[in-house]
Amino acid sequence: MGDNKAGLNLKREVGLIGAVSFIAGTMIGSGIFISPQYVLSAIGSPGASLIIWASCGLLAMLGGLCYSELGTIIPESGAEYIYMLRTVGRVVAFMFVFSFIIVMRPASATVIALGFAEYVVAPFYSDCSPPELVVKSVAAGGIIVLAIINCLSVRLSTGIQVVTMVVKVLAMALIIISGVVMLFQGNTQNFVNSFEGTHVSVNAIGFAFYQGLWSYDGWNTLNFLTEELKHPEVNLPRAVVIAISLVTGLYLLVNVSYLTVMTPKELMSSTAVAVTWGNKMLGSWGWIMSVAAALSAFGSLNGTFFSGGRVCFVAAREGHMPDILSMAHVHRLTPSPALIFTTIISLVVLIPGDFQSIVNYFSFTAWFFYGITLSGLLYLKIKKPELPRPYEVPIILPILVLIAAIFLVLAPIIDNPEIEYLYVTLFIFSGILVYIPFIHYKLCPNLLTKLTVFLQLLFEVAPAEKNL
Ligand code: ARG
Repeated sequence: MGDNKAGLNLKREVGLIGAVSFIAGTMIGSGIFISPQYVLSAIGSPGASLIIWASCGLLAMLGGLCYSELGTIIPESGAEYIYMLRTVGRVVAFMFVFSFIIVMRPASATVIALGFAEYVVAPFYSDCSPPELVVKSVAAGGIIVLAIINCLSVRLSTGIQVVTMVVKVLAMALIIISGVVMLFQGNTQNFVNSFEGTHVSVNAIGFAFYQGLWSYDGWNTLNFLTEELKHPEVNLPRAVVIAISLVTGLYLLVNVSYLTVMTPKELMSSTAVAVTWGNKMLGSWGWIMSVAAALSAFGSLNGTFFSGGRVCFVAAREGHMPDILSMAHVHRLTPSPALIFTTIISLVVLIPGDFQSIVNYFSFTAWFFYGITLSGLLYLKIKKPELPRPYEVPIILPILVLIAAIFLVLAPIIDNPEIEYLYVTLFIFSGILVYIPFIHYKLCPNLLTKLTVFLQLLFEVAPAEKNL
């Protein structure tokens, strides 16, 4: 230290257990405690809803395996962004980072924070729905606290991830075990004629997938921090397989338990499923479920921040973002400017938020880019077979996931197009309008340099280097 030529590195601190916790901990968040009701109402029957949950898990697993190959061929952090940059090119990568930073990441942080807040306030408003202002203030509080923690230390945020993961797995185990006991006592009436009433339109299936996939989103978390992972060529695929199978199994069983304890009607009309479940099964101890669900969302928000900050950081390093966002704190080694930036936008998005529609717009945008990323993998497999591949998947996997991604992007548009999806698409492409003047022609560089120096002094940050 003290030699400023050495530069700053984010350290390789994350081992296999940390890696599994990062994936599972980010995946299990708000969704499993809120979305089951939306999946069920979209698809119409308990049987079909279980099939949707299983298919979402399968899709996440196949996606995760394809991304593991990408992560070992392209060992840099930054997931989709860096993979698109190295395969389909700079403009598309920029479009991604633009949508990611302005829509996707803040939208997901906001949805999770809203889920967190719903469960924090639920015990205080058992007879009525809580005032929106209270829910949003609690959500803002959660976002700010986690941003501070993530700026202070990587170890602390990894710690939170591990602890909240234990809490959420225990909460789900409780839901599962009591559900299975009830099932064996013969409470199977909700599974009789379980496919009756299924909606089979493309639109219904698409929305059911959007809501289900929201609970699985985060399957690509590790690819955002490949450079901080110990032995990524081994730990990346291993953590993907362990975490995603664990999560899929848990989600299916939790849904079976919800459906055993509640009628489909009760499930569809509840806002906080786990609390309704808790009140029915645990009586006066029902509040335990609120605490557990709130902690679960808190951990997921933490993972979202951790990985989201990394994208700004990698994109700035490539000249696609103002430099300040690529710097790390000189002592703590956390990328604090990028984290602060993500936090501010998340707080802005919180003002007009609504769980279900934000999730739908998010999924639409996310699967659009997952699809492009997978076509990048196909390109590498076909055109660059000579690249060293410590981990390889059969070519059929990216083809299948790509077909699913195309279906998911088209589904909400085909049957019954809503104008909002046009706006989202226009927004994604508007990234090009920013790219041409500011990135390609580098307009206004001086202004940025002055601002960068000022902010550097303010945040005590310095440029970080790649860690390959
Ligand atoms: N699956 C999480 C949940 O159910 C949301 C994950 C958001 N996405 C992300 N990449 N962090 O709340």
